[in-house]
Amino acid sequence: MRLFSAAVTAMALTLGATSAMAAPIEIKFSHVVAENTPKGQMATKFAKLVAERLPGKVEVKVFPSSQLFGDNKVLEAMLLGDVQMAAPALSKFQKYTDSLQLFDLPFLFKDMAAVERFQSGPVGQEMLTSLESKGLVGLGYLHNGMKQLSASNPIKVPADVSGKKFRIMTSDVLQAQFEAVDAVPLKKPFSEVFTLLQTKAIDGQENTWSNIYSKKFYEVQPYITESNHGVLDYMVVTSAEFWNSLDDDVRAELKKALDESIAYGNKIAAQKAEDDKQAIIDSKRSEVIEMSPAERAQWVTAMKPVWKQFAGAIGQDLIDAAEASNQ
Ligand code: LMR
Repeated sequence: MRLFSAAVTAMALTLGATSAMAAPIEIKFSHVVAENTPKGQMATKFAKLVAERLPGKVEVKVFPSSQLFGDNKVLEAMLLGDVQMAAPALSKFQKYTDSLQLFDLPFLFKDMAAVERFQSGPVGQEMLTSLESKGLVGLGYLHNGMKQLSASNPIKVPADVSGKKFRIMTSDVLQAQFEAVDAVPLKKPFSEVFTLLQTKAIDGQENTWSNIYSKKFYEVQPYITESNHGVLDYMVVTSAEFWNSLDDDVRAELKKALDESIAYGNKIAAQKAEDDKQAIIDSKRSEVIEMSPAERAQWVTAMKPVWKQFAGAIGQDLIDAAEASNQ
């Protein structure tokens, strides 16, 4: 009898050890864009690096195209432990912090090099901690690129958007930006944009070349104005609860793999902005319109008062630091 119970205990221990070994930590990485985008490619690369470097220990499962969560739900889901990583656009953190609204200010960064200088500098790095009190950890920034305006009518000057409905991300700064030119902004999830454009429920939207191309917005928008009026970048985030539950060596290896994946995604972002713009031009489905410096100046004059409107919430010091990165 004693021999039998010893055998059962040994078997139970072995089974226990086997099942512990057989259950890698699962990281669900949820995002809303297509796989052939900078974010999609970054997430896939991260999953691959983790599979190579932490086999049997950690498994990353990527859910693209809002398959698991849209951006308005994903952070709540993360805090509940239903998803472990995501990289929402910086415009989508408003519920959690005011400071990241900085990135939505129109005409703040002159190009992506300025964005990179700011994000990798001390102020940008400090902003990665801005979600800490809400239980979220900023692991790094990821680029997509500068935003362009697509519409059902040709747009050159602010008067061209007067009274027109534009889809925006969930950001009060973006709302103010469109209101400043008498347009009608509507906060809608990314997953609904194509249908809204196709059915002409809205007149236009703002987005990057890679999103306009990969989600086929250019097929239902006859005009795209190369406005470069703002930036669409991401913050890769996780929950403090999940991140702190990891062993130090696993956390360090994951961070290393993530940093490499972000560097890879950023390279793709720069190339995709050029390639996807060209692909749209080549498709002849949509006319790409350039603005003259005088036309551009009209947009800057109309939209720049938004900076003052939000300086209190964002912090003038952050705005000054971001502006300084243009030099
Ligand atoms: C959008 O909603 O337009 C973007 O945030 C989508 C994305 O993640 O690039």
